[in-house]
Amino acid sequence: MARLDIHFGDNLPILSSLPSGSIDLIYIDPPFNTGQIQSRDQIAVVRDAQGPKAGFHGLRYRHIKIGSKEYPDLFDDYLAFLEPRLVEARRLLRPDGSLFFHIDYREVHYCKVLLDLIFGRDSFINEIVWAYDYGARSRSRWPTKHDNILWYARNPADYQFHLAQCDRIPYMAPDLVGEEKAARGKTPTDTWWHTIVSPNGREKTGYPNQKPRGILDRIVKVHSRRDDQLLDFFAGSGSFGESAVALGRNCILIDDHIEAMQVMARRFIRRRVTWHGWNPPPRRSLRDSPSSAAAPPVPSTDPTPVPAPDPG
Ligand SMILES: C[S@@+](CC[C@H](N)C(=O)[O-])C[C@H]1O[C@@H](n2cnc3c(N)ncnc32)[C@H](O)[C@@H]1O
Repeated sequence: MARLDIHFGDNLPILSSLPSGSIDLIYIDPPFNTGQIQSRDQIAVVRDAQGPKAGFHGLRYRHIKIGSKEYPDLFDDYLAFLEPRLVEARRLLRPDGSLFFHIDYREVHYCKVLLDLIFGRDSFINEIVWAYDYGARSRSRWPTKHDNILWYARNPADYQFHLAQCDRIPYMAPDLVGEEKAARGKTPTDTWWHTIVSPNGREKTGYPNQKPRGILDRIVKVHSRRDDQLLDFFAGSGSFGESAVALGRNCILIDDHIEAMQVMARRFIRRRVTWHGWNPPPRRSLRDSPSSAAAPPVPSTDPTPVPAPDPG
């Protein structure tokens, strides 16, 4: 049975304690706002041989001020928060390992620059756009209904990509491709149409920003093998861990929020879990608690694709 290791605490010191080259696949979905607003400047990090800041591989960087006061003053702190954690993530990856970094349209461009600096531009393989169509629609601009997932490979010449393991999606115009192809479906592109976690569905844990199993299952199946070691160090409700163990992979999950621990204790009540830094309540009290309806593991499912607007 696949193993889950769940750590309670700030992810940085925990990441630092894990051995280099020990992880096959990392998925993270960090919070947008660290809540540590200390400055009003918007800062970008750029490579500069004479720059004052030392980085990985002996490279040097400097900060440049890129924004005006009308923007929220989060970017400088946000990137400073992420940087050491992303440096650790790269150190932890095995030679053919990959990082999947889930972020929203407001932050993705800044994070891409930071990730390029840490991993190297060559290691950037794909930007996956997760498109959904749920909730209110703005009438003053195009409704923003997508997230971005950046894929970086530790080594751009050698990484796991098992496309044959990917779920298949329906053709938009099945009549154009013949019966056999239409029945088989096609593999997705870098735009993944998928519903959000249904507010009334079995998958829902009640944790904010829970990501759907369909998206995570696809990443796990295509970018890792059975028995591999996976990691999510912004685990939240443990969605990535649930995908990992349901598909026969081992997973380390880290979160510093007690509510995340409580949700995961219920979600993984039937899984083999080793807890670090936190003791879950007795199983009986978890089973009896009102939100234990979400406890049974959701079986691995293929995504519910929304047909993409191309006939190909
Ligand atoms: C967007 S949520 C992740 C949601 C998750 N993908 C899911 O499907 O449930 C981000 C998580 O990062 C956690 N977090 C934020 N800063 C952290 C830190 N320094 N160390 C560990 N966890 C942190 C928060 O507590 C939160 O649960």
